[in-house]
Amino acid sequence: SPLSSLDKDGFIPLYYQIQQVLIEQIQTGKLLVGDCLPSEYELARSYQVSRMTARQALHNLKSRGYALSQKGRGTYVTRPKLEKNIMYLRGFTEDMKQRGMMPSSRLLAQTVLSAKGVLTEQLRVEEGSAILQLRRLRIADGTPMALEESNIPLKHYPGLERTDFTSESLYKVLRNKYGVRAAWADEVLEASPATLEESELLSIPKNAIMLSISRVIMRTDEIPIEAACSRYYGNRYRASIRVPTTT
Ligand code: GLP
Repeated sequence: SPLSSLDKDGFIPLYYQIQQVLIEQIQTGKLLVGDCLPSEYELARSYQVSRMTARQALHNLKSRGYALSQKGRGTYVTRPKLEKNIMYLRGFTEDMKQRGMMPSSRLLAQTVLSAKGVLTEQLRVEEGSAILQLRRLRIADGTPMALEESNIPLKHYPGLERTDFTSESLYKVLRNKYGVRAAWADEVLEASPATLEESELLSIPKNAIMLSISRVIMRTDEIPIEAACSRYYGNRYRASIRVPTTT
């Protein structure tokens, strides 16, 4: 019974214990995506805790991406957000495989264009220099996660444009064929509403909140590898980082 499952004299906060019980029920499939969670009132009653404690447990489930609240529907289980640790420079394919998910892509465009404007600065090339541009819908276990635009300076990676990126991992090709090793990246994270095209391609609501991650990724010899922008649906993805101290 719920009552006996809480340790009321220990050091573990009650809201945390309740939250963990619910997470376990989600992870073991006792609660499925779409199922309603008990209300604040029901939790408080069945665990003999205050409404505040019950609210905190539900709040944490929502902020960790396990649940959502909707007027008239209560709080229900959602597919947990994927959390990307942005300290690591993994590519999409590698990242999804590490989670035991099946990565795939839909290639929307693969074109060679000439560099101009901000791209020339980001990629450190002259105006008119050849750039390979990829636009891909990135998919994990069948669910579209992100729309991604990659710009790669062909000057440093000649012949790359002949790769068939319908199935190939960009980072794998760069590593295996060109011996590229990434050293660091400048990243900017930004929130903005989905465009109409994005909401259609990702099958998400109009104006849904997107998390944009723009990066310029560099080799150890300070030669740019890629200037990219990945646009993730905010309800499916979140970013985390371990912040080092500066002292
Ligand atoms: C991540 C990066 C992109 C990069 C991609 C490569 O999503 N944010 O900048 O283009 O990985 O992924 P893959 O190696 O699967 O092509």
